[in-house]
Amino acid sequence: MADKISVLISEKDVEQRIQELADQITKEYAGKEVHLICVLKGSIFFTCELAKKIPLPVTFDFMSVSSYGNQTESSGRVRIIKDLDEPIDGKDVIVIEDIIDSGRTLSYLMDMLSARKPASLKLCTLLDKPDRRVTDVKVDYVGFEIPDKFVVGYGLDYVQKYRNLPYIGVVEQ
Ligand code: IMP
Ligand code: MG
Repeated sequence: MADKISVLISEKDVEQRIQELADQITKEYAGKEVHLICVLKGSIFFTCELAKKIPLPVTFDFMSVSSYGNQTESSGRVRIIKDLDEPIDGKDVIVIEDIIDSGRTLSYLMDMLSARKPASLKLCTLLDKPDRRVTDVKVDYVGFEIPDKFVVGYGLDYVQKYRNLPYIGVVEQ
């Protein structure tokens, strides 16, 4: 049976907010090259839409990680499934995430990347669930703060489905 999904953030609102984030990044990185790290798979749509709206030299790399844990909680121990193709030393790096929940995955990832000596390292997330945070992670750019609900769409999945929805939705239980 198909799940019932209600709209939390419309396609128009998502696109508009991504434009605002892109404008902010464009201003703050003027004269520089931006190296975007897309954390697969959830960040693919967000990374592409954001990148198209940044009129600066942009390069990309991709990383895939999996957090150990049960279905709804990550443990903080992260397994690298696909590492970056290129070194990041000396680069102005922005890590692009779909959502920050407990913060465990990103806190581990940011420490690991920072040890590789980028010129600068920032974190940009489309969604943030601050109520769920258990560990300190500095987020530089946030699209939307959302309540503690399980969301899908715009790259986010529910058992691998719904990534292709053009809006952010909530799966009704
Ligand atoms: P954290 O380590 O708890 O911050 O885990 C964050 C990861 O959990 C995200 O990158 C998502 O892959 C996944 N996640 C957390 N909340 C949601 C949600 O509401 N919908 C879909 N995936 C989620
Ligand atoms: Mg993710």
